[in-house]
Amino acid sequence: MDVALAIASKRDVREYADRALEPGVQVGILDAGRLAGSARNRQPWRFVVAESGDARASLARAVYRPEVVLAAPFSVLVTGLPGSALTLMDIGRAAQNMMLAAWGLGVVSCPHGLRDPAALTPLLEDDEEPGIALSFGYPLVERDPARRTPESWSARARRVSLDSIVRRA
Ligand SMILES: Cc1cc2nc3c(=O)[nH]c(=O)nc-3n(C[C@H](O)[C@H](O)[C@H](O)COP(=O)(O)O)c2cc1C
Repeated sequence: MDVALAIASKRDVREYADRALEPGVQVGILDAGRLAGSARNRQPWRFVVAESGDARASLARAVYRPEVVLAAPFSVLVTGLPGSALTLMDIGRAAQNMMLAAWGLGVVSCPHGLRDPAALTPLLEDDEEPGIALSFGYPLVERDPARRTPESWSARARRVSLDSIVRRA
C-alpha cells in the first residue's frame, strides 16, 4: 500500500474477524517494530506476544477495554527499557510502525493505554517497564483503502485542522 494512503486511511479498529493472523503476517508486523528508529539506536523495547491464556488475561486486566484485547487474535505488549527520557517516544515509533505495517497487510489494530500497569508484572522481565498494548486482527468487513484518495481520507479524518496546530516561527 502507498505510504500516504496507509497513513491517511488508518483508523483504530476494535472489532476483529474470528481469524488467526498467519505466522508470516505476525512476523511482518513485529519486524516493522524492530525496524523503527530510536534515540541513539538503543532500541529500548521488547515485544511480548500474548499467546497463552494467562498472558492474555494479564494483558486484558491491564487495559481499559479488556474485551477488545480478549477478542483480538493477535496482541502485543510493547515494553520499554528505562535509561532514556526518550524511551516513550521510541516505543511510540515502534508501535506506529507495527500498526501501519499491519494495515498494509490488511490487518486493523488499536493501541490500548494502561489502566492497571501492575497487572502486567507476570509479562515483564526485570529490566522492563510497561509501554503500550496493541491489538490486531482482520477487519469484520473488508474495505479497500484505495476506494478513496489520501486527500479524501485526510479530509474525512476526525482530526483538528492543520491550520490550528501548525505555527511557523
Ligand atoms: C497512547 C494511546 C492510547 C490509547 N488508548 C486507547 C484505549 O485504551 N482504548 C481505546 O479504545 N483506544 C485507545 N486509543 C485509540 C484512540 O482512541 C484513537 O487513536 C483515537 O480515538 C483516534 O482514532 P481513529 O484513528 O480511529 O480516528 C489509544 C491511542 C493512543 C495513541
